[in-house]
Amino acid sequence: MAGQRVFSGVQPTGKIHLGNYLGAISPWVAAQVEHEAIFCIADLHALTIPEAVRATYLRAKVRETAAVLLACGIDPARAILFVQSRVGAHAELAWLLSCVTPVGWLERMIQFKTRSAALESVGTGLLAYPVLQAADILLYRADLVPVGEDQRQHIELTRNVARRFHARFGEVFTLPEAMLRPSGARIMGLDDPSAKMSKSLGETRKGHAIGLVDPPDVIRHAITHAVTDSGREVRREQASPGVTNLLTIYELLSGRSREAVQAAFVGKGYTVLKRAVADLVVTTLEPIRQRYLDLSAQPEALDAIVVESSERARLLAAPTLDRVKQLMGLHERSRVPFPLSDSKEG
Ligand code: AMP
Ligand code: TRP
Repeated sequence: MAGQRVFSGVQPTGKIHLGNYLGAISPWVAAQVEHEAIFCIADLHALTIPEAVRATYLRAKVRETAAVLLACGIDPARAILFVQSRVGAHAELAWLLSCVTPVGWLERMIQFKTRSAALESVGTGLLAYPVLQAADILLYRADLVPVGEDQRQHIELTRNVARRFHARFGEVFTLPEAMLRPSGARIMGLDDPSAKMSKSLGETRKGHAIGLVDPPDVIRHAITHAVTDSGREVRREQASPGVTNLLTIYELLSGRSREAVQAAFVGKGYTVLKRAVADLVVTTLEPIRQRYLDLSAQPEALDAIVVESSERARLLAAPTLDRVKQLMGLHERSRVPFPLSDSKEG
């Protein structure tokens, strides 16, 4: 699988949590070693969240997100880590793709249905959100998109939009595949294991999420108070969502198999399990938090990394956008040489 291109993104909103880390960021860090990797801080997507649109908020969040990703191990010498709004081709391709995307496809998106249900007035951007995401991925002709379970439907939509474009105008895109972890693609909230751990709930509900840069005492408190079930100890044949979630976190952070983890805890009380999970989470996250604190003290260096990466992203995106415009009849012919499928570098 060497030589494939990996693309993914994260919104610079809310509090980046352990679910983001296990479902997405840690697979990204692994992917950058084997593959050409491009990661996007999706600030244009964040504009669909009304609370995110406050003066200076997004800019600060973009920097904070960059610091967290770098602290987790994204390496700018290996991967491109760029800011979506700095690469104009994203908004431009999103418009072009919206002209081939049926509204019905967008209305069927689970994330749209959930988010719009809670709103009195639904913005066009919220509906068109997956078209922008499709543009993000298709611009770079990415092969693989490492994401959590909640994004699977958006990647499927991306493939459908690309197919429809191809049928109408001709081939240009690569059909991307979602890359999901067999376990860990959906980490649940500690305070409510029936709900996905989420950035927004992490901001409003104490004990819901483990923030990647939360101090150790906050992490320990959240795990100690995690909801389990009415039992007292880990059983062989049990699958209560709260206990399963803790075992999954332990499995992924320890790198041990599920069977080994299960065997290690069967017959042990929930207190023992929680203490072990808390120790492992703190040991994993503490170095990340320290690196994050160091990086946060160097805002100019952070800005320089994303500005330089965004420049590289712009160069990679330009030929695809140009080719799309040509196929749609907006350009006479391509001004930028379009890379052949066997050479993405052009
Ligand atoms: P977001 O928080 O929506 O910006 O998501 C960033 C990435 O983290 C996406 O790939 C999500 O699918 C993934 N993600 C978000 N929440 C979880 C979760 N609870 N468990 C696993 N992956 C998640
Ligand atoms: N919508 C994604 C999320 O909320 C973030 C994202 C934006 C993304 N663009 C992307 C993910 C492209 C994968 C590929 O998690």
